[in-house]
Amino acid sequence: MTDAFDPPSRKLSRRALLAGAAGAAGAATAGEAASAGNPKNLPPNVPSWTRTLGDGVAVRPYGQPSKFEKHVIRRDVQWLTASRESSVSFTPLHELDGIITPSGLCFERHHGGIAEIDPDDYRLMLHGLVDKPLMFTLDDLKRFPRVNRIYFLECAANSGMEWRGAQLNGCQYTHGMVHCVEYTGVPLKLLLAEAGLKTSAKWILAEGADSASMARSIPLAKALGDCLVAYRMNGEMLRPEQGYPARLVVPGWEGNVWVKWLRRIKVGDQPWHAREETSKYTDLMPDGSARKFTFVMDAKSVITSPSPQLTLGHKGVTVISGLAWSGRGKVKRVDVSLDGGRNWRAAKIDGVALDRACVRFYAETDWNGQEMLLQSRAIDDTGYVQPSKAELRKVRGVNSIYHNNGIQTWRVAPNGEVENVEVS
Ligand code: MTE
Ligand code: CO
Repeated sequence: MTDAFDPPSRKLSRRALLAGAAGAAGAATAGEAASAGNPKNLPPNVPSWTRTLGDGVAVRPYGQPSKFEKHVIRRDVQWLTASRESSVSFTPLHELDGIITPSGLCFERHHGGIAEIDPDDYRLMLHGLVDKPLMFTLDDLKRFPRVNRIYFLECAANSGMEWRGAQLNGCQYTHGMVHCVEYTGVPLKLLLAEAGLKTSAKWILAEGADSASMARSIPLAKALGDCLVAYRMNGEMLRPEQGYPARLVVPGWEGNVWVKWLRRIKVGDQPWHAREETSKYTDLMPDGSARKFTFVMDAKSVITSPSPQLTLGHKGVTVISGLAWSGRGKVKRVDVSLDGGRNWRAAKIDGVALDRACVRFYAETDWNGQEMLLQSRAIDDTGYVQPSKAELRKVRGVNSIYHNNGIQTWRVAPNGEVENVEVS
């Protein structure tokens, strides 16, 4: 198994790539004919798109992906929830690369549907243990000094269906409640300073303007630390799904506290014990007690390619690719195993490795059609190592829904099909 891990030499890799390409074309069945191409468009013919003028500028005033990319979409699992208003759609991680999630593909998690807020009617109230209660318009928020930061957001329930064993076939479903975008916003500490905090202030309550009025308590130290009231993502205004016109950004902490459609911040001296921090978003332990306020998302990773929605279509040089993140800091290393965790080697982290953002990793292998049990594990700069599912269950049991960061296994069968499995 370790042999297959050695990055192929340049010469070998070129030969293997060519062999792979020829093999794939040779093996194409009727169903795969489209991927073999339309003979009329293939060299040396002049393809249809070269013989006619294309659409002019501004025919597409807001750009959309190519019509050939229609399969790259958020998806939901209808049996998971009783309604679409209180539900989730998942990021198609297997179709993406790099670290930034395109805005239109960011997973959505709503408890009462998408609030459509007219920005002129938007108000953010700040009150409680402050010297001067304040009400901000969107324009007021935009007049404060602003910062740009790239962070991942992961729902605490990501991988929540997998506590009792492998369930869903696809990293979109097992790990797709994560996204990573660039936010533009006001540091929350500037708004709090404007109102003036009383000395007894210890917690804030952040509340949304959606019909769920979702509200969460956040310790003041975090609010004064790195939280933002963001109004832009990836340069443009937030999408309605992501909390237009303003949401709370709480770096490294569970997605539920990133309150969308943010309408109110109350300063208090203790937590509020709201629904989403008592009956939900607590972690039921094997002894029946429940952990509360488990805010931080521990280090986690997943191989996005190959993965169950992507059959491995060729032998030879194969790039294994995935994402890793940690709510405690930077991802320092990602290890990859081909044999279910017996042997590991460090993957290459490509591009930037930012604090509490996703990182992209790659590992090359020369696949000869043997069964593989693919795993990845993230290690962050605090030294924390992503645990196996067995290690996690030793502490947490199987009663939990939230905070499942166990190592994922994909079985690659000799025919290239990939499936969600567990190894003991
Ligand atoms: N804020 C409000 N007001 N209402 C919500 O339903 N869902 C929370 C959080 N903020 C929610 C909310 C949950 S559980 C998560 S995981 C994130 O928003 C999801 O953010 P996203 O939809 O931008 O991915
Ligand atoms: Co969530």
